[in-house]
Amino acid sequence: MHVSFNLAADLDTVLKSTAAAAGLEDAAAFAPEVRTADPRHGDFQANGVLGYAKARKLNPRATAEKLVAALPDSVREAYDFTIAGPGFINFTLKPTALFAWLRAHDSAAHLRAGAAAAHANQTWVVDYSSPNTAKQMHVGHLRSAVIGEAICRLLEFTGAKVVRDNHLGDWGTQFGKLIYGYKRWADPAALATDAIEELERLYKLGHNATPDGSPALDEARAELVKLQNGDPENVALWQKFSDVSLAAFQQIYDRLGIKFDHNLGESFYNDKVERVYRELTELEIAETSEGALVVFHPEHPRFKTQPFLMRKADGASNYASTDLATALHRVEQFKADGIVVVTDFRQGDHFEQLFLTVKKWFAAKSYRLPELHHVTFGAVTGEDGKALKTRSGDVIKLKDLLNEAEDRAFAIVAEKNPDLPEAGRRDIARAVGLGAVQYADLSQNRSSNYVFSWDKMLALDGNTAPYLLYAVARIHSIFRKLGLDPAGDCHPLDDKPIPTPPREKPDVCHLMDDKHPGARMAFEAGATAFETAAELALARKLAKFPDAIRLAGDTLRPHFLCLYLYELAGEFSAFYTADKVAVDDSGIRARRLMLCARTLLILETGLHLLGLRTLTRM
Ligand code: ARG
Repeated sequence: MHVSFNLAADLDTVLKSTAAAAGLEDAAAFAPEVRTADPRHGDFQANGVLGYAKARKLNPRATAEKLVAALPDSVREAYDFTIAGPGFINFTLKPTALFAWLRAHDSAAHLRAGAAAAHANQTWVVDYSSPNTAKQMHVGHLRSAVIGEAICRLLEFTGAKVVRDNHLGDWGTQFGKLIYGYKRWADPAALATDAIEELERLYKLGHNATPDGSPALDEARAELVKLQNGDPENVALWQKFSDVSLAAFQQIYDRLGIKFDHNLGESFYNDKVERVYRELTELEIAETSEGALVVFHPEHPRFKTQPFLMRKADGASNYASTDLATALHRVEQFKADGIVVVTDFRQGDHFEQLFLTVKKWFAAKSYRLPELHHVTFGAVTGEDGKALKTRSGDVIKLKDLLNEAEDRAFAIVAEKNPDLPEAGRRDIARAVGLGAVQYADLSQNRSSNYVFSWDKMLALDGNTAPYLLYAVARIHSIFRKLGLDPAGDCHPLDDKPIPTPPREKPDVCHLMDDKHPGARMAFEAGATAFETAAELALARKLAKFPDAIRLAGDTLRPHFLCLYLYELAGEFSAFYTADKVAVDDSGIRARRLMLCARTLLILETGLHLLGLRTLTRM
């Protein structure tokens, strides 16, 4: 039996062609809308008949019946189906089809091959993290980095070539004051130990020494003008500020598993804004208003009066001009089919105006418009609903937050594993602590504000990283006890324990490394058909992984994947409680081991897509 990777998408395609075969009027316009169903109704549900029939004044139930009668044998073989309510069609996979699906998708390579169709041959530029230089990253910088990385991985998994671009805020008037402070008070020893901390101190000194209207402010402005005009000394200083900032950011990125392809900050676009002014003026998209260059969008309720300011009256470029140049660069240089920018929701207006402008601009140039997405997120707050601060009321530095996560996780791990050597406990604590912070952020719908709670994110049950990491480690231990390698070595390991990998190369998702592309696992040979309710429920959940990936990828909302993984771990737990795995009957044992191996594969794959590191023991 042939089973495709994304069963829901496949059903959708089949139903659409069936509509034509069944002679439905205007069949080309019929969208079946097949989605994962509420398990009480089946595995998948087609919701599209209703809207289609209503719009054409047809009876939806009769339409659904016509459609179902024309379904091809391939669907009849794999599914039981019923028409429900006013015209929904519910599909329930037959156990043989479920079994075939699990058999066919037995390695990371097979999962990836199946998923890759969604964005095959597409290039997506993802602009995320993008902090301002000469300042530390603080807690407010967490979300863009974590959400952005998960989106990159989801897009990559679904076939896209992803360009990770860190759009640093590395240009602006603040550099005048910073250079002013630096030239007077820089402390070489402090620069050597914690450069970025020292730059923050120097900026504050520079800022305090240059109040409005003071001659000192004129001096700071002169430093800025020198920098803008290419004065070698100031340019070298600015370069140094960028370099030390990036080095500090990289330490955070390393901990979060982030590696950028480019760090093309605002400064990179300095010499590219003139072309933007010229083109938008010539194409009569931009106009001069009170000396500034602006774009009005008459079709928009607000932006018809509130224009997009793209060059200030004094001739200076701004965030809008560099972002317009950035969009052009991404299309011309990276050939982007899609652009995703991940920032705080407060930049909503900016990106709405930017995208409206880009659409008009590219249309006028006859450029193909890439998909443009502003991925926004809400604030991180304390449990009191207010901005998260330290006890003394300062902003929390991101590196301190991550350290605290590891320390708190260490305390938990040490309590659970008193016998483990210190280094092992540290390594586990690192994966659990950082994973807890990442997962707490990702598991929320990103549009909401999210309440930062150490206790909740480190809890061993609930929709948390520790719970899921523990589920993964538990399945590893099942295989370890049986002397089997779940990654699919064709030969059982005869009781040899799986060696603990060295610490530098921690036990990352070894299922992701494609060492065993499609190796049929020996322990699965002779598996017999699923029988018990718990086996079937788990198998059904596993087969819905592709639709969870699709949903998270289409909406650019990783929390859908989190929820799926959490529910999968729950089904596994129910199965493991209900059905013994290591039974004597070789057929039953083989099929239960297959369920364990697939659960592990999908949990590890999913957690990796979210940017987490998984563990083989906890
Ligand atoms: N540097 C900006 C900030 O800290 C974010 C930049 C986002 N990307 C962009 N192309 N504007 O808010």
